[in-house]
Amino acid sequence: MIAEALLYAATLPSTSKPHRKYIRYSVNLWSRAKRCSRDWEEHEANSRRAIVNAMAGCRQRRTAVVLGSGLLRDVPIRALADAFDTVVLIDLVHVATVRLAMKRKAYRNIRLIERDLSGYDDLAAGKTPEPLGFLRNVPYLDLVVSANLLSQIGRGVQRRFETERARMPADTVEQLIAAHLSGLIGMPFKSCLLTDVSYNVIDRNGATHEETDLMHGVAVPKAQAGWAWPVVPTGEESPDYQVVHRVIAAY
Ligand SMILES: C[S@@+](CC[C@H](N)C(=O)[O-])C[C@H]1O[C@@H](n2cnc3c(N)ncnc32)[C@H](O)[C@@H]1O
Repeated sequence: MIAEALLYAATLPSTSKPHRKYIRYSVNLWSRAKRCSRDWEEHEANSRRAIVNAMAGCRQRRTAVVLGSGLLRDVPIRALADAFDTVVLIDLVHVATVRLAMKRKAYRNIRLIERDLSGYDDLAAGKTPEPLGFLRNVPYLDLVVSANLLSQIGRGVQRRFETERARMPADTVEQLIAAHLSGLIGMPFKSCLLTDVSYNVIDRNGATHEETDLMHGVAVPKAQAGWAWPVVPTGEESPDYQVVHRVIAAY
């Protein structure tokens, strides 16, 4: 708890006022990632490998953008910084430990941007959401990575939608998940989509009790790789069950 409080306090001054409400989610992620590091290791290594494979498919390596860069656990940041002229990391919040690490000389070509990538505000204003439309204005863009972000956009949007149902379209979550995919796939840059697409609640005997589609029925592109990510290992929330997510990599 003390480490979490310190990280929160250190992140507060460098975070813009509208984004401060998200710091606790990033600190919770930091805390859980540390507790579950052994169970998450394989997922993180698979994610980094998929990004390196996507880099290999780039004809030029000028600018790379990482969406949902978070704690940089599943992002091969050193390889990206070495390979590209500029690397732009985008998230709702960049915690103080990440900001500090990015001040090192080896990372002088890295830029940090705070941005809500959901498109929710545009949809609420009656506009067609284009949450990744800003990528058109990024010069010399060769690679865009969506780094285990999309299901989190879905969760955040769902949370907000539940409190504002009356003024939002009934298919808000589906529309915004689809908008992320269409802003990423088939664009004039190489893309790498990493996302958990579903999860299962599994008991100690291996029986599945619940299966949930994190993409809300929206079709995802054909994946080059897929794996299981035990987001909530047995013992984390209950001694009786674990929650295992299914992750895909499409690049
Ligand atoms: C599961 S984490 C991804 C982990 C991260 N790639 C890493 O290597 O540590 C999801 C990330 O998405 C970010 N996120 C969630 N909703 C977002 C939104 N609407 N806009 C931008 N980032 C968002 C969270 O802050 C978090 O850092």
